[in-house]
Amino acid sequence: MEEEKCKEKEKIVEGKTKIIWRVNASTVEIESKPDITARNGKKRDKIPGKEILANNIACNVFEFLNSKRVKTHFIKRYSEKSFLAKLCEMVPVEVVVRRYALGSYLKRHPEIPKFFRFKKPIVELFYKSDKLRDPYIITQGNQKRIDWILYEAKEPLSTNSFLGRISASWSLKEEKLAIKKAKKTFILLERVFRDLGYILADLKVEFGRTTEGEIVIADVIDNDSWRLLTEEGEHLDKQLYREGKDLDTVRTKYEIVSQITNSLKNYI
Ligand SMILES: Nc1ncnc2c1ncn2[C@@H]1O[C@H](COP(=O)(O)OP(=O)(O)OP(=O)(O)O)[C@@H](O)[C@H]1O
Ligand SMILES: [Mg+2]
Repeated sequence: MEEEKCKEKEKIVEGKTKIIWRVNASTVEIESKPDITARNGKKRDKIPGKEILANNIACNVFEFLNSKRVKTHFIKRYSEKSFLAKLCEMVPVEVVVRRYALGSYLKRHPEIPKFFRFKKPIVELFYKSDKLRDPYIITQGNQKRIDWILYEAKEPLSTNSFLGRISASWSLKEEKLAIKKAKKTFILLERVFRDLGYILADLKVEFGRTTEGEIVIADVIDNDSWRLLTEEGEHLDKQLYREGKDLDTVRTKYEIVSQITNSLKNYI
């Protein structure tokens, strides 16, 4: 027992905004850091206390999703800045669900007006690669084999924006399931935020494969994962930081969103 206590925690990986600690063979502790980043890490700052707000937001969202039977890696809150989760092998993909045309969508579709509302939310996949600037994915293949065709995310799709073709990190069945889960997550959250008087414009989720081989929502869903606006169109998410607003203003928004997500408990 004593020996257990003295053992140093093993750090599996430290990213820009989180540290992943090993707890046992199938469980990790996910600790948020005070860091905030934009433009693929080129813009970077620390906001003291952001780790507590980010962790509270992620835990509120995961507790809500688990109650709606959307499978995630989340197990339980652990400390004010961390939660326990299932150890996953991450799939290097960002799944983005959009109700409104914003962000890189506008660069790929310059003919579509900003804030165009999609009647049915659209889903897009991006390959996580800093070197390739997180390219846009078009999936090709069948039940036996699938490939990801990669295109520049910030240019209209054309032969000029083609970057390459790689073999996918999951099966077609898993990809379809992940897309379905991402959509369901978006719709569930959008409905609650709507009810509370806010607009969820888009959402990014990541997936991992548990040690049991199941594909679940992993990483975090926090205030850096979405565009969340007031009814007046004011951003409560990381957008203000991207635009260079001062860190106190940014922190205030994270505090507001942390408070808002506390209300998710009433929808469980
Ligand atoms: N359940 C999990 N098991 C193992 N690793 C995880 C889990 N959830 C998230 N991770 C990984 O934790 C790492 C650290 O997170 P962080 O978001 O800080 O990294 P990052 O610097 O943004 O890099 P990335 O581009 O990979 O997200 C990421 O690589 C993420 O994929
Ligand atoms: Mg990350």
